[in-house]
Amino acid sequence: MNTAICEKIIREFTLSNDDLVNIAASFRKDMERGLVDISESSMKMLKSYVKLPTGEEKGDFLALDFGGTNLRVVLVRLLGNGEYEILKKVAKPLVKEGEYNFISKEAKGEDLFDFIADMIGEVAEDRGKNYLLGHTFSFPSMQSNIYNASLITWTKEFYTQGVEGEVVNDLLKAALKRRGIKNVEPVSVINDTVAVLLASAYKNKNMQIGSIYATGFNTCYYEDKVDGGMVINLECGGFNRLGINYIDKILDETSAYPFQQRLEKMVSGRYMGELFTIALTEILEKNLENFTAVDISTMIADNSDDLKDVAKIMESKANVTLSTDELAYIKALAEVISLRSAKVVAATYVGILWHLFKDGEIKEQKIAVDGSVFEKMPKVQKTMADTLKILLEDEASKIELVLENGGSALGAAISCVLANN
Ligand code: BGC
Repeated sequence: MNTAICEKIIREFTLSNDDLVNIAASFRKDMERGLVDISESSMKMLKSYVKLPTGEEKGDFLALDFGGTNLRVVLVRLLGNGEYEILKKVAKPLVKEGEYNFISKEAKGEDLFDFIADMIGEVAEDRGKNYLLGHTFSFPSMQSNIYNASLITWTKEFYTQGVEGEVVNDLLKAALKRRGIKNVEPVSVINDTVAVLLASAYKNKNMQIGSIYATGFNTCYYEDKVDGGMVINLECGGFNRLGINYIDKILDETSAYPFQQRLEKMVSGRYMGELFTIALTEILEKNLENFTAVDISTMIADNSDDLKDVAKIMESKANVTLSTDELAYIKALAEVISLRSAKVVAATYVGILWHLFKDGEIKEQKIAVDGSVFEKMPKVQKTMADTLKILLEDEASKIELVLENGGSALGAAISCVLANN
């Protein structure tokens, strides 16, 4: 293995404190440019047509969670006082090897929505009862009201035909009709970041920011200067006012949508494994099968003297046996890719806080985050907290990053009530 190249790549992924300040400042600037004229921002900054809940919303609602690896249909009972119960749940993967694949180039939107309608039919099996359905749809969508959201473009390497440009709830309604399901009425569509914020704001006071840090990456926030106040889905995976290194460049050029989702390609779980694979291809000078974010996590967590877990992964996936010194380089590479991601994500949150509080004092608040990278990747949460300290100094103690697990379904249920307000 070429350790000199490894050292060089590690340097490319290392960020200084000045870099972090620059990222936070240019993120804020890009948002503020977008608020004046959206064509001036690299982010889409989409209106979501919802305000924050009070915590007193009540009733039984169906929630559809569509956008990650799994589809979920959940029957949620909102009890008010920030409390809720999950009454029923069905979850199915979008891809089942050897059986079906609803996200490939050959996949058809109609088949996908028929599959979803069947899942909804299973949960809403009591046909004598009518349900409103909230839809968490985790892709950039142009909305004109809380129901009407059309998919601008797929992200996260989804390709299904016949969905881009369409009103997603119309596709869902048509599928429900085809399947004869008359007791379910889709009434809202929200992004998953919005769902996380609504879910967390239902249970906590002082929330303005919600974020997904998982397969994909994105953040929303409550903006009181747009249409009397509403949540804005930044689609900040598209933020591109930051420098990229040559590994990022290779990834971008070989991805499904080059030049798009530049930030997402640097930080999200879907792409971290690919960055690592590309870097290793350079270092080992051979073609490799894809490493994943889970491999990166396993390597970071390996504190054994002989780095046995790192060795095992390198043997099974790259078919190489390395010395302990070499394995230490590989572990350092995994770590630097993940730490860069955590630092950049935290810096973008600071950019939003700087926008919200201008040059005044930051208000004490929680930032809701959902997603496997935030939840499971070792050292990520600590690195994010450290980054907040670097950028906000004493004011960092006012900010708490909280895990909002499973916010997609709860948020979708809450959006049904907000749709009727
Ligand atoms: C999508 C966003 C979504 C994020 C997290 C991105 O690829 O564009 O709409 O919020 O993934 O799921």
